Amino acid sequence: MSTRAETIDRGEVVLPRRMRGLQPTLIRQFFERALPDSINFGLGEPDLPTPEFLKREAARIAVEEQNGYTSHPGIPALRTKITEQYPHLNLPVTGVVVTCGSQEAMTDAFMCCVDQGDEVLLPDPSFPAYDACTRISEGTPVYYRMPADTEFAFDIDEFRSKITPKTKAAVVISPSNPTGKIMTADDYRQIADALDGTGIWLLSDEIYSDLYFEERPRSASEFYERTIIISGLSKSLSMTGWRLGWAACSDPKMINAIQVLHGFTTVCTSTITQKASLLAWTDEAEAAKQHARDVYKGRGEFLVDLFSSEMGLHATSPEGAFYTMLDVRQFGEDMEVAEKCLQNRVVTVPGTAFGNEAKGFLRISFCNTEERMAEGVRRMKEALAV
Ligand SMILES: Cc1ncc(COP(=O)(O)O)c(C=O)c1O
Repeated sequence: MSTRAETIDRGEVVLPRRMRGLQPTLIRQFFERALPDSINFGLGEPDLPTPEFLKREAARIAVEEQNGYTSHPGIPALRTKITEQYPHLNLPVTGVVVTCGSQEAMTDAFMCCVDQGDEVLLPDPSFPAYDACTRISEGTPVYYRMPADTEFAFDIDEFRSKITPKTKAAVVISPSNPTGKIMTADDYRQIADALDGTGIWLLSDEIYSDLYFEERPRSASEFYERTIIISGLSKSLSMTGWRLGWAACSDPKMINAIQVLHGFTTVCTSTITQKASLLAWTDEAEAAKQHARDVYKGRGEFLVDLFSSEMGLHATSPEGAFYTMLDVRQFGEDMEVAEKCLQNRVVTVPGTAFGNEAKGFLRISFCNTEERMAEGVRRMKEALAV
């Protein structure tokens, strides 16, 4: 055990256990090493512009109104709009806490559910922040496979086999980062059945729920009561930098804990953002979300076809979000393949960043015009000598 005196004597910083070994994700590490004029298949950040009516409204609010703190959980009118997104829960306004992006909602939810030594079930592959949040809350990540050989579909036997008396929470994400796959109603029914009576919390990351290409994805909260919804506006309305997210939960004790923690971490998200976001459920906003769905659907199909016709490679067909998993196993280690692409000015993310199951794949995000994506595929072809 290190003491404060020991730390000072040695002149070295000893971080608390929760911070040890925590690193920026491989997604960021690859992106930050991009050569000039690289094609970005790496970051999951919408390239479509933020809708004009939202920008104008935020500018007006900044100029005309006084923007002090809001109450910690956010302005009631905005929280009411969010509750209406989940009519099946019949949430009171206190059932929602508005956070600085869904990332804050996620971290808060983990901190409020997970205790030292608790196990948390995470999908493999999945967004690396879940692993980090589990460790920050001093829990132990336990992975359930979404098998690559079934295009990363949910597998209830895998899920069930990982539940132990120590399991405190489980994470689901749909549409998925990194696979673009959507959980079916049956998947959720099976999860609800497996968790029934266990007291396990289900953390449902629904940040991509407005970006779907066929049927609207269901919310895990329709099937299992002890669910904490994590969502926001970043992806569907190209508002990543605005930092508007939320946690929603029908359990008053849990959402209150999240609200208290949020008050001590960020106080409230930007007041200007909150007020402008009142327009995020208008007809204009719904039209912008539909436009985003149409654009990403077209781009996903374009890119998957191009990988097949130009490189003879299989990429999973996306059902939502803006990701596909490209199978590059024939070229060797995904880290090396991604490195070769990086050196030829194409940023991708090695599947390893998301878990063992995605080894041999690259996550490709299609937040790019068709022209840029075609150039990206040309450069990858060159890099891999196809
Ligand atoms: C799966 C997933 N969840 C959450 C987030 C956090 O997004 P934000 O904090 O902008 O809402 C991201 C961002 O990339 C993501 O991909």
